[in-house]
Amino acid sequence: MKKLVRNSAVVILAILASGCGNGTKEEYKMSKESFGSLDGKEVVLVTLTNRQGNTLKLTNYGATVVWIDVPDRDGNVDNITFGFEDLEGYLNGDPYFGSIVGRYANRIAEGKFSIDGKEYTLAINNDPNTLHGGPEGWHSVVWDYEIVEPEEGNPAVHFRYKSPDMEEGYPGNMEVEAIYEWTDDNEMIITYSATTDASTVFNITNHAYFNLNGAGSGDILDHELTIRAAAFTPVNETLIPTGEIIPVAGTPFDFTSAHRIGERIGEGYDQLELGLGYDHNFVLDNNEKIDAVVYSPKTGRYMEVETDQPGVQFYCGNFLDGTMRGHEGKVYNYRGGLCLETQHFPDSPNQPEFPSTRLDPGDTFRSVTLYRFGVRE
Ligand code: GAL
Repeated sequence: MKKLVRNSAVVILAILASGCGNGTKEEYKMSKESFGSLDGKEVVLVTLTNRQGNTLKLTNYGATVVWIDVPDRDGNVDNITFGFEDLEGYLNGDPYFGSIVGRYANRIAEGKFSIDGKEYTLAINNDPNTLHGGPEGWHSVVWDYEIVEPEEGNPAVHFRYKSPDMEEGYPGNMEVEAIYEWTDDNEMIITYSATTDASTVFNITNHAYFNLNGAGSGDILDHELTIRAAAFTPVNETLIPTGEIIPVAGTPFDFTSAHRIGERIGEGYDQLELGLGYDHNFVLDNNEKIDAVVYSPKTGRYMEVETDQPGVQFYCGNFLDGTMRGHEGKVYNYRGGLCLETQHFPDSPNQPEFPSTRLDPGDTFRSVTLYRFGVRE
């Protein structure tokens, strides 16, 4: 039977480690504390501590990942994702650190799309386009939550949000859920589901920034990246896909074998100039379990990404400018973090050749993305 935590005091739930035979050392712990309030709604910080003693912290503001700490190859534990110490930080110009973005992740050209001949117009928040759902997208709303301790499987936090018809200009009342699990093997698993009562467009992702040397410890240009994608979608000067799907072979976008992110980023390649660096959707081969790997030679930490989505937006923090301070006052520098946003392709509602992002009444969207953290020499 599921056990739910509902009261607002700090609650510690310990799952007894007896019978857990994978060489781990502690009990699984789940706790929550106040993180502030917004529009009369309580905002909480939930901490999941697995049997390795590593923690994932989440808030229901934006269903956001706030903190992930994992060891390096020498056993030093550090937080490797961008976040703020309190809700205030998220309310002051947060560039989607760790949040869920929706209803439509990435850009929709000029904030317009049509469904069955009816045109919809969205707010423009990334001139001349709509970015990440719009100015008050799902990253900025307070989600309902349940902390769930199952008899089988992993402890989890279930975030739910009811998005009303025409919210930010999108048709249909939607019910959306993002479930986060944090396993004893340092895997963060996000399971998304969504329904609508009118035909709409839908594209959801998590926008976590990662620096495997520790969040706020310089840039990520030394990280080695593999993306199992033989093609990517080039963009125009406003970062809207041109509609082409072009092979990565022979370009600085070929990450089919590991390359340092900084290795070719300065090459005079037009797509790197338009993107101000890497800020592109890769068309995943989707034929291997692991779709992307990031490795830091400095700390030995790696992150593997697995998804059932057709694309991943690789963004390397080109818009960060070092003015933002997060946990422990650390500065998040230009190219100080990278995002691997698993999703459908940007601007799909206006790109008939791309996989469809239409969601109809009666259909349930379901998708899983996994981030696995480990170390190697
Ligand atoms: C990314 C997007 C970038 C930038 C960033 C937020 O998902 O690809 O162009 O908008 O979000 O600053």
